[in-house]
Amino acid sequence: MANNTLILGLQWGDEGKGKIVDALAEKAGAVCRFQGGHNAGHTLKVDGVQKVLHLVPSGILHPNVHCVLGNGIVLSLSALAKEIKELQESDINFKDRFYVSEDCSLILPTHIAIDKVRDQSEGIGTTGRGIGPAYEDKIARRALRFGDLKNLEELKVKLAKLVNYHNQILEHLYKAKPVEFEHVLEELTGNLDLYNQYHCKTQDLLKVWVKEGKNILFEGAQGSMLDIDHGTYPYVTSSSTTAGGLSSGLGVGPRYLDTILGITKAYTTRVGEGPFATELFDSNAEQLAKVGHEFGATTGRPRRCGWLDLKALETIVFINSVTNLCLTKLDVLDGFDEIKVCIDYDETEQPIYKTFSGWKQDTSKAKSFEDLPEAAQDYILFIEQALDCPIDIVSVGPSREQTIYRN
Ligand code: GDP
Ligand code: IMO
Ligand code: MG
Repeated sequence: MANNTLILGLQWGDEGKGKIVDALAEKAGAVCRFQGGHNAGHTLKVDGVQKVLHLVPSGILHPNVHCVLGNGIVLSLSALAKEIKELQESDINFKDRFYVSEDCSLILPTHIAIDKVRDQSEGIGTTGRGIGPAYEDKIARRALRFGDLKNLEELKVKLAKLVNYHNQILEHLYKAKPVEFEHVLEELTGNLDLYNQYHCKTQDLLKVWVKEGKNILFEGAQGSMLDIDHGTYPYVTSSSTTAGGLSSGLGVGPRYLDTILGITKAYTTRVGEGPFATELFDSNAEQLAKVGHEFGATTGRPRRCGWLDLKALETIVFINSVTNLCLTKLDVLDGFDEIKVCIDYDETEQPIYKTFSGWKQDTSKAKSFEDLPEAAQDYILFIEQALDCPIDIVSVGPSREQTIYRN
């Protein structure tokens, strides 16, 4: 029986989605992205070699897996061209298995300029990839879409209007330098190859695949607490990162999903600004950051670190109707004397913690749940009970094989 699985980050991104999607893609027919853009940074480690993907779905290392960028993503052509080129240089093949929706909105150099200048005053700490401004144009119904590349004459007319609008904002609102029209046009005309090779009516393709019973993985980017509606607004990204985003971002209705796999680290991190109830500022924070190599995969910024927040996760599990959980980076906790988890907040919104004694043993070589130290097993069992959801996968290292499957 087919098993279509939605894989979502439950925190503020960087939960290890890329690693888990790559590991599960072994048995999948296709991996599809449905939201976000090259703000994502998904790290895969196979045979000792690390690869960071930003737009390309994390199934691409498996030569027979099809990969789709759905209508809900925002697409920077130059970012995609660069990523494909780098992957092709390490002999990864894209022919006849990589598809980009004609309906996805394009990120232009002017979006990036606006994002960067605006973030200086708004202080969200965006990735500076033009994500917010590109989604704004989509919602305002003035975006250029990938399919617009099929008619260059019409495209130029639309583009001139849009670039003029963007430059008014840059020059008059932000007193910044405008972007030359020719430069923006070059971003499009210089990447026509991408359109010719990969454009697709992905909604039709997905319909066929779902009916055929192809095992499909749907790969979320960012995390639920960065969701435009359900996240820590305004300190969020500009897309629907929760389960609802799948249907709009690919054209696959909720009925065709069999599993909703929520991924959480065994602790919490956040990159960028915004509230973070369980954030630590002591030596524990330093230890999490150091052992977990907590630096952004896209921007290199240090990630803020803190304990796991079960109170927040419980709501997130509901919003996404998570059916199964995956706990990543358990090994990062190996050296701690004590480990805390937030189980509630007090009347001043401060976290109330339950304290676990650490296991002080190496978990990175464990192959099964039973191989884990008892204190680590207790930690896992407590989390699944508190969230009322089975933890089926435990990750104990960045490599594909450092993955424990429980059920
Ligand atoms: P994503 O955005 O959710 O795909 O996650 P990122 O790739 O941005 O960040 C996760 C980081 O943790 C990457 O450097 C991964 O290689 C690494 N990682 C993933 N799972 C584990 C794990 O179980 N243990 C350790 N130590 N590292 C992991
Ligand atoms: P992956 O897919 C972590 C954060 C940014 C900023 C906010 C808005 O690797 O988990 P944006 O550029 O999207 O407008 O920035 O969202 N952010 C991420 N944080 N992981 C990501 O992606 C992120 N993508 C965006 O740091 O706080
Ligand atoms: Mg990431």
